[in-house]
Amino acid sequence: MSQKQALTELFTNTFSHQPTHFFQAPGRVNLIGEHTDYNDGFVLPCAIDYQAMIAVSPRDDQKVVVTAHSYDGQVSEFQLTLPIASSKDAFWSNYVRGVATVLLQRGMNLKGVNIAIIGNVPQGAGLSSSACLEVVTGLTLTRMAGLDVSLKELALIGQQAENEFVGCKCGIMDQMISACGKEGHAMLLDCRSLDTRLVSIPESAAVVIINSNVKRGLVGSEYNTRREQCEAAAQHFGVKALRDVTLAQLEAAKADLDDLTFRRARHVITENDRTEAAAEVLATGDLVTMGELMAQSHISMRDDFEITVPAIDGIVEIVRNVIGNEGGVRMTGGGFGGCVVALVPQEKVDAVKQAVEQHYPQCSNGLIADIYVCRASDGASQL
Ligand code: GLA
Repeated sequence: MSQKQALTELFTNTFSHQPTHFFQAPGRVNLIGEHTDYNDGFVLPCAIDYQAMIAVSPRDDQKVVVTAHSYDGQVSEFQLTLPIASSKDAFWSNYVRGVATVLLQRGMNLKGVNIAIIGNVPQGAGLSSSACLEVVTGLTLTRMAGLDVSLKELALIGQQAENEFVGCKCGIMDQMISACGKEGHAMLLDCRSLDTRLVSIPESAAVVIINSNVKRGLVGSEYNTRREQCEAAAQHFGVKALRDVTLAQLEAAKADLDDLTFRRARHVITENDRTEAAAEVLATGDLVTMGELMAQSHISMRDDFEITVPAIDGIVEIVRNVIGNEGGVRMTGGGFGGCVVALVPQEKVDAVKQAVEQHYPQCSNGLIADIYVCRASDGASQL
């Protein structure tokens, strides 16, 4: 059964009628530019062919009634005319509640709807299962109310919901790429201006994602700590964000900064430079230089930003041994587990899979990795 058929079945079983509309928004993988988004810097993600999908029908009242396939069809509901509380027993519904809250705060007149949700983005793997749910919810609620809100604004609304309603201080990367991704392309995003530039991914390279299946236990607290450290470093220089500090300025201030702050800032500043350079070389199909930049990015995340774990470093090593300098590999996402992304020559994809299957359990206390060979995909849409 296709994802859409399973979604339709869930919808009709729950609401006893057919849905009138379908919407989707994809997960993402970031090729390079990690922990740069909340420093007003650059990122280079692509949307992937795994997504959250919604089936919906209008209601005659002002209620939103929502059910989710991943949570055994649990049903949760709230009123658009009353303050929307967060839910403890249906935590997943907080993404829907959060987006509805932000839309209402922005003065939009929403309409009551029945919603069923399905998704195949692995949860907790750092592939933005939350962001795509926020974006598809925003698209659904606005379109069903006849509101033509831009995809960029839907991304900002999703981020605000995550920051204020769910409580994670994430940047704008995940929602922007889920909303605005383009098939066959990565997107260079300037996280200050929100300007975007599409960069085509060479057809000779497969986007391979390797999920370490390491539980990202520390991710919330460590993520927010990294953010605070970056903000402290920016404050030292009297600028709005680390985007505004050059490597030369940082080096000159080395004696005035503690070692930890220095290394955190060095990661962000050098990662911004690498990301802009990566957009240039990827566009020309130069996978060798792209691979070097991805390797440097991984080392910087490991040694300066300290967000990798041994199992992830192990996967990077295993893949690097197979692809040599013919592609790139690095950890992707927030860190402390999650996934590795690799740009792999098509003819080496099988060898990469075999090497990971064979060697990963030895460097991960027996964990098995999941491997997804992805297509860079379009962003959010009505189906
Ligand atoms: C998470 C956040 C993003 C970004 C990345 C790290 O995915 O949601 O905003 O900060 O981590 O690059």
